[in-house]
Amino acid sequence: MDTLLGRGEEAAPSGHCGTVEECSEAGGIDTHRVNERSPITTASHQDEPQAQDEPQAQDEPRAQDEPQAQDEPQAQDEPQLEAAVLDYWRRQPASVDGVLGGYGHLHSLDIRGSREFLNLVGRRLRKWKVTVKQQRALDIGAGIGRVAQYLLLPMYGRVDLVEPVKKLLETAERILGPRNEVRYIDRCIEDLGSDAIRSDYDCIWLQWVTMYVPDDKLVKILGKLVLHCPNGFVGIKDNVSADDATQFDEVDHSFARSMSNWQEIFARAKLSVIHIAKQRQWPTHLYDVYMFALRPARDM
Ligand SMILES: C[S@@+](CC[C@H](N)C(=O)[O-])C[C@H]1O[C@@H](n2cnc3c(N)ncnc32)[C@H](O)[C@@H]1O
Repeated sequence: MDTLLGRGEEAAPSGHCGTVEECSEAGGIDTHRVNERSPITTASHQDEPQAQDEPQAQDEPRAQDEPQAQDEPQAQDEPQLEAAVLDYWRRQPASVDGVLGGYGHLHSLDIRGSREFLNLVGRRLRKWKVTVKQQRALDIGAGIGRVAQYLLLPMYGRVDLVEPVKKLLETAERILGPRNEVRYIDRCIEDLGSDAIRSDYDCIWLQWVTMYVPDDKLVKILGKLVLHCPNGFVGIKDNVSADDATQFDEVDHSFARSMSNWQEIFARAKLSVIHIAKQRQWPTHLYDVYMFALRPARDM
């Protein structure tokens, strides 16, 4: 079972020691340059994380008049795709190994990398004099609550979990228990609105779930989600395909987006990448995994 993280035979750039690999220029990515120089290339040639003290001035992402030509896979139509994804997840085991597509042994490495990333984002926001509270997180596509349990609850104290597959959400509830600090929300990311989620999250975390949402829909969803964390940020952790073409997986119906595809989505959603890091020590036969911290473009 290696469809979730796997990318076939090709070798990835070699990993580095440590856990999180810095790869952006301070202050985010210049969204106009992504087709000239992929941050993947930048990352794989960079030995040491660079000190990132001050954000550099960056151009506002401009509205992109023409979508760029790219080899976008033709997925099924959207409601069908959503149903197929949920059907896939209903058939997976409700376990750490299950939600990691058979790579349960990578769980600790993944959590360490994310923790380091969140600490760096917090430091950066404080440096920018953004009031960072770290009290409440939203975990979308929460699965069995693996990320909530090991990453978000210890860091934020209160977490709302969003998960549409009943057996996964029930497993999360069994593991985390009924407690005041946790809320369980039985919804799809597409159906999240003010009736279901709060408007004051410090972090909205999307791990290996944006891969199931087609571009246009994702642009709209991200644009709405940032409004639910005015003093925080949206964090995405997901696969990135090493070449410049987004790949579609017919088995779990996921997209492994190219870096330029991600950049285009963030620009269209009018978001700035305030921090980006590559998960280190990730097996080279799997897709590279990146973490992005996002804020409205005009804030930074
Ligand atoms: C690869 S698992 C990741 C689970 C968890 N984020 C983790 O890292 O342990 C993908 C999860 O996304 C959920 N998912 C898929 N499509 C979704 C959607 N449209 N809205 C919300 N969750 C979705 C699946 O049910 C599954 O729990």
